[in-house]
Amino acid sequence: MTSKRRLFVTTALPYANGPFHIGHIMEYIQADTWVRFQRMQGNEVHFVGADDAHGAPIMIAAEKAGKTPQQFVADIAAGRKQYLDGFHIRFDNWHNTDGPENHQLAQDIYRALRKNGLIAVRDIEQFFDPVKGMFLPDRYIKGQCPKCGAADQFGDACEVCGAVYAPTELKHPYSALSGATPELRKSEHYFFQLSSERCAEFLRDWTQAANAHGQPHLQTEVLNKVREWFTTDENGHGGLADWDISRDAPYFGIEIPDAPGKYFYVWLDAPIGYLASLKNHFDKGQAAQHWHAPSRTPQSFDAFVADPAVEQVHFIGKDIVYFHTLFWPATLHFSGRKTPSQINVHGFVTVGGEKMSKSRGTGISPLKYLDIGLNPEWLRYYLAAKLSARVEDVDFTPEDFVARVNSDLIGKYVNIASRAARFISQYFDGKLGYAEPSNALRDTARALADDVAAAFEAREYARALREIMAYADRINTAFDAAQPWILAKDEARRAELQDACSRALAGFWLLSVMLTPVLPALTARAARELFGLERDFLWGDAAELPQHTAPYQHLMQRIDPKLLDQLFENDSSTATTANPAANPAQNPTAATANGKPMPSTTETAAQDPFITIDDFARIDLRIARIQHAEAVEGSTKLLRLTLDVGETTPDGQPRTRTVFSGISSAYKPEDLIGKLTVLVANLAPRKMKFGLSEGMVLAASAADEKAQPGLYILEPHAGAQPGMRVR
Ligand code: MSP
Ligand code: ZN
Repeated sequence: MTSKRRLFVTTALPYANGPFHIGHIMEYIQADTWVRFQRMQGNEVHFVGADDAHGAPIMIAAEKAGKTPQQFVADIAAGRKQYLDGFHIRFDNWHNTDGPENHQLAQDIYRALRKNGLIAVRDIEQFFDPVKGMFLPDRYIKGQCPKCGAADQFGDACEVCGAVYAPTELKHPYSALSGATPELRKSEHYFFQLSSERCAEFLRDWTQAANAHGQPHLQTEVLNKVREWFTTDENGHGGLADWDISRDAPYFGIEIPDAPGKYFYVWLDAPIGYLASLKNHFDKGQAAQHWHAPSRTPQSFDAFVADPAVEQVHFIGKDIVYFHTLFWPATLHFSGRKTPSQINVHGFVTVGGEKMSKSRGTGISPLKYLDIGLNPEWLRYYLAAKLSARVEDVDFTPEDFVARVNSDLIGKYVNIASRAARFISQYFDGKLGYAEPSNALRDTARALADDVAAAFEAREYARALREIMAYADRINTAFDAAQPWILAKDEARRAELQDACSRALAGFWLLSVMLTPVLPALTARAARELFGLERDFLWGDAAELPQHTAPYQHLMQRIDPKLLDQLFENDSSTATTANPAANPAQNPTAATANGKPMPSTTETAAQDPFITIDDFARIDLRIARIQHAEAVEGSTKLLRLTLDVGETTPDGQPRTRTVFSGISSAYKPEDLIGKLTVLVANLAPRKMKFGLSEGMVLAASAADEKAQPGLYILEPHAGAQPGMRVR
């Protein structure tokens, strides 16, 4: 018998500047499924998450929202539970990286790195916003691309020609925060000397080595990518560079010891937040309840994380591999700590084959999913059925979702119980009975459960579910072949009837055990209500045969495809964000979607010469800066405007909107760039021949435009800022 494993499992710590999106939920479902599988095996698991609180984007978003960063982060954190509970994601602890544990740990780790001679201090030149009084992160500097001349490009790369450059290379740079021209200033920065031979050697070794439990630290495809990062060309260029780990005040972060005015760059303290959340969990005295052996003396947090027997497993997305495969193990190793056992990287969720975007119309809002009554386990099942151990994107397509769930979960799985339990209740008073010696049945079950367990262990969920559904097919085929409805008519064939139904229910039992990591709520009900078990299934139950069943209780229904239409409707009457304050422009007070009739308040307005203040408040008018304007090929009327409305993407990057506006007769594109105007921000996005138009810019014109031509866009007085509400 192998001894029980001890596991410390995390998911990436989400930036605390917006509600969860479906990508986060997928990551949590992947990890939660694995954790549940480990727990079913009797392994000890400590599964923790936290909000990633620090960094410039959050500081700036908080300022915009008129809150302290601490308050801002706390408000976001308050919205987390409904998502996690809603999708049955069961973290043992949820903390945040601004907690005292993280301040302490980050500073301790830094001191250890410094003592180890791996911290260097150098002057660097960086853009400074004289209006805001702060150094600007690359993403907050914009200007003309040095290569192709495209306007309004970010400070790190051009979205038009793909060139990568330093912000100092931009032509006509300006601060995305204030619009001011930034100045180059010198500042002392702290570096982690990743380029040192010591580090390079350690990382080359670590990334390729197997962990203490014989598995590789990294997936093969991840390792291949990491190898590229090590490689230097014949001139010695490329390879690992030192890592700039400091930022100057004002910054929302953790102070660097003995360096007044300097803070750790958010990515230094973010992964340390894994440890901080675990420590917080231990300090609350909650960790001990997961100890699998009651006799084990609880270890301290320090002893636990240093224990070579403990496996440290991180689930992350493909965009943050560099941080987790290079910076993080090096940080741990050179501060004298244990390194991770596995970094498990997943791909991205796409919706209908398209990259997810938070703008209305694409993506799936997890809260809306729950609000309209879609079953969380449908999503768990669907995503699991598409997840493998490879770094592949996972596509959500509504038709596929409906077909998959209805055919597998209802058609193959749940139906077995509803069909077979009926006979057992009616003729056998709930008692099961098998003709074949039960050992043979048990052996088959055990063999299948072993295969499926290996697939779950390896995060090959799609394979696990394929095997499970193939078994469901076999059960259904055997049940149909026995023709129980005919057997039931013949008193003399009761034993045959009981055997056929018992085998089907034993099949359902086994399927339920194996589906428990994916469908915890459904199988918990099956265990209790159908089989009278007073606990959730454990993996070992796979080799047991049920002996009785209660009358069938309805377990799960088919998906009504209409719900999916509702999910994809561009309508924000159902909450699309947990925290409207975080993204006001994306959560308008009301919307009239897809040309549907407006709700009644507006209908009465048609008869009444006046509207109420509430009617007016439904229109979300915002100040927008025209970052870019250009003619639209194939249209004589339209200009394509790129607008800054003060919004950010889920990962805190500035987000712009595209609006097509019929003003080309009145304005040359270059005359509009940099101007402020007014945008109807909650107009339902409209798909046009040339792309999606995400709002409407206001302009004045005469009642009879033919008789009196002329078109004048609105411009606010000086001082108005992008994102301000007009009311
Ligand atoms: N705060 C950092 C992580 C710090 S970890 C010490 C961060 N946050 S995030 O909110 O942008 O992303 C959190 C996780 O969600 C990451 O693992 C990321 O890869 C994942 N996803 C973000 N978008 C995703 C999809 N569209 N699909 C699947 N996962 C995605 O990065
Ligand atoms: Zn360019």
